[in-house]
Amino acid sequence: MLKWKELYEECKNCHKCALGEKRTNMVFGEGNMKAPIVFIGEAPGADEDRSGRPFVGKAGQLFTKGMLALDLKRDRDYYICNICKCRPDRNRTPTEEEAMTCLPYLRNQVALIKPKIIICLGATAMKYIIGSDWRITRDRGKWIERKGYYIMPTFHPAALFRDESKKSLFWRDLKSIKEKYEKLKEDGEI
Ligand code: URA
Repeated sequence: MLKWKELYEECKNCHKCALGEKRTNMVFGEGNMKAPIVFIGEAPGADEDRSGRPFVGKAGQLFTKGMLALDLKRDRDYYICNICKCRPDRNRTPTEEEAMTCLPYLRNQVALIKPKIIICLGATAMKYIIGSDWRITRDRGKWIERKGYYIMPTFHPAALFRDESKKSLFWRDLKSIKEKYEKLKEDGEI
């Protein structure tokens, strides 16, 4: 397992898959590196590729706003990153090969952070973190306990723009995360 600085440098110089050839910036992740909650998205979009920061575009801003409404802050309560650290062209879903190539970096990040709660934002994160037999519309909002982590999938915030009806379910899931977080604090697990 690499330490933060080495891991960052390795990701920054990574050319293990073709995404590394076209990126403007590698998007490592950001937030509290000792956070009890880690959010995992799919891959950077255009705004993230340009800025080098995760979830700063339209979907990211909606997500951040929802979190702030629950008094959950990026630099205090959570860390946010992606399955893939580089942007796939035209924002396509990363291929299985791209995801599997990048996954060790994410595993290393999670091992360094040691969160209690892991949230998969969307079907791609859910597939690689929980398993390919889960379905986002059927299984979002369900908690599982695995390897000492409480894990839950919810919609990717970008999906809320395509289907307004998902907003209330997404909001319900964010509140469930907040409740789990408060309960773990109360129980002294955090
Ligand atoms: N979508 C993602 O999955 N990740 C980002 O960082 C931005 C948009």
